[in-house]
Amino acid sequence: MGAVASLVFDRVRFGYDAGWVLEEVSLRIEPGEGVALLGANGAGKTTLTRLAMALLHPGSGTVTTCGRTTATRRPEDLADVAGYLFQHPESQLFARTVRAEIAFGPEQRRWPAPQVRQAVEAVLTELGIEATADRHPYDLPGPVRRLVALGAALVGAPQLLLLDEPTAGLDRAGRRRVTEVVLARRSAGAAVLAVTHDLGFAAAALDRAVVLQAGRVAQDVPTLSLLGHHPDFPAPPLLNLARRLGLDGIRPSIPILAPLLTSPPRNRTLEG
Ligand SMILES: Nc1ncnc2c1ncn2[C@@H]1O[C@H](COP(=O)(O)OP(=O)(O)OP(=O)(O)O)[C@@H](O)[C@H]1O
Ligand SMILES: [Mg+2]
Repeated sequence: MGAVASLVFDRVRFGYDAGWVLEEVSLRIEPGEGVALLGANGAGKTTLTRLAMALLHPGSGTVTTCGRTTATRRPEDLADVAGYLFQHPESQLFARTVRAEIAFGPEQRRWPAPQVRQAVEAVLTELGIEATADRHPYDLPGPVRRLVALGAALVGAPQLLLLDEPTAGLDRAGRRRVTEVVLARRSAGAAVLAVTHDLGFAAAALDRAVVLQAGRVAQDVPTLSLLGHHPDFPAPPLLNLARRLGLDGIRPSIPILAPLLTSPPRNRTLEG
């Protein structure tokens, strides 16, 4: 047997009062994998990630997060193995400073103070938000708040990152930062499941695409084989460019797109 899977959904069914949202979802994500969770508004993407973090529990079937069945667990019981970025970061931010916000998880888990400090500083640097460390999260622009919330998800170096629309509202520099972080964390062995409508980000950072539709996994394919080959998922301009340059044929192809996604503004005309 290899390493423990990062996330396993086994015939999961879940609904709110109005009816079933997930009819039957089975899915397995291994360490180091990057998975884009795609689908129309209301398809159940956020619901799926909340099930993975034990914020919700399946009506039937099982969810196993980093080897732990979620049925009897709460999010706190997964905090040492999984990091979660909410679709609306406002729902997760509560501390008075950015530094305190990011330190909260490790402190709750009783890390020694010097280790907490070091981990927090490392994440602030990784995300390029050092200058905001002493600011109140609510005094920051929305996109920076999203990065702060991402920092809180990253700080414990979790084996599984569950990111709900991590690039929403971010400018080019922010998207570049998130792309680099996702690739780096994957290289370090973490699995990343990211809900996204940002197909450029998906192409650059996530090499597997899972499409939710009508409560089921309608597609589970390499991201590049989906984008530009399905009416709902057009190839982003950067992928078209990479295809024209023949770059997407080189393996591992996805990280090769990252510098294109993240090229400095003066190169923008390259994107056509
Ligand atoms: N707390 C809730 N109570 C009742 N219904 C809910 C709740 N949260 C979501 N729903 C409903 O469940 C369905 C799936 O919602 P979900 O938020 O998981 O979709 P999504 O794919 O993340 O959509 P989006 O792309 O708009 O974020 C929708 O019909 C939504 O209205
Ligand atoms: Mg959602």
